[in-house]
Amino acid sequence: MTNDKIVIETNNLVKRFKKITAVDGLDLAISRGEIFGLLGPDGAGKTTTIRMLCAIMDPDEGSAQVAGFDTVKESEAIKARIGYMPQQFSLYGDLTVMENLIFFADIFQVSRKERKERIGQLLGFARLTQFKDRRAVHLSGGMQKKLALACTLIHQPEIIFLDEPTTGVDPVSRREFWDILANLHLEGVTLFVSTPYMDEAERCSRAALMFEGDVIVCDEPEAIKGLVEGELLALRPERLREASRLIEKRPGVREVQTYGDLLHVFVDDAERRAPELREALKQVDIGIHEMRQTRPRMEEAFISLIRERVEER
Ligand SMILES: Nc1ncnc2c1ncn2[C@@H]1O[C@H](COP(=O)(O)OP(=O)(O)O)[C@@H](O)[C@H]1O
Ligand SMILES: [Mg+2]
Repeated sequence: MTNDKIVIETNNLVKRFKKITAVDGLDLAISRGEIFGLLGPDGAGKTTTIRMLCAIMDPDEGSAQVAGFDTVKESEAIKARIGYMPQQFSLYGDLTVMENLIFFADIFQVSRKERKERIGQLLGFARLTQFKDRRAVHLSGGMQKKLALACTLIHQPEIIFLDEPTTGVDPVSRREFWDILANLHLEGVTLFVSTPYMDEAERCSRAALMFEGDVIVCDEPEAIKGLVEGELLALRPERLREASRLIEKRPGVREVQTYGDLLHVFVDDAERRAPELREALKQVDIGIHEMRQTRPRMEEAFISLIRERVEER
């Protein structure tokens, strides 16, 4: 592709570890200013992909360009232009919030003149100003992630890579963290974010679903949800497993997914099948606490696509 708006591009990118192919022929093209989500379960190959894009690890095959530079031949040029927040970002626990920021300003050679203003901005941006003298070890998990992000941004990178920045963080902090990413997005920064949380794809301009080293789908969230065929019924039956097994065999039922004590049933025609299901369950004395038609979310779409992929084998 010769589009100069493309700031991250991979061509048949491959990485192997002994018998495992962690990344298996990846082709991605990400435009300037996108907020791009790399979604996938543990072991999908997200970290390996990000490490190759950040020029920390060389691919076995294929190539990648970031900000117009080759990740193997021009790794230093890339490192100066990107921010990388690894999953296990190392803050210095004994240092305060302020001292951590100064430390990273030193590493990235931010001039003394610039750093004062920049640190003030970042503290405000990450809503950490009132905690600037607190030692990092005494911050909550969510605040540590925000400080890590602030440290990643100290040299004003044009592209930032974040590897599972919200994993293990409570839902409220997760939302706040995504609000901060949205603000960066508005400032024109290109964001590449990996996450195992399917719902976070909703916050991205485009998302790729990665599974066993391969991207199964890459598109805008609405388009991905549109891939799910059929209509969706959510029901809360008694005797969940029994109910699920019975429903799976009913005509018009495409797929059944379990969420806690809730079944999500994909059917060809919700209006027609809902009373049929109710009747079929009644026959075997299974009551239904709740049943309603609902819209597929990102999570249902991804689970459905991964299932299809597994069944193809
Ligand atoms: N340094 C390594 N040595 C051997 N296997 C590895 C190494 N790094 C990753 N892997 C394997 O490659 C696959 C992808 O890992 P990773 O990129 O960490 O996935 P994710 O970040 O999506 O959880 C996994 O099967 C993992 O065990
Ligand atoms: Mg990982």
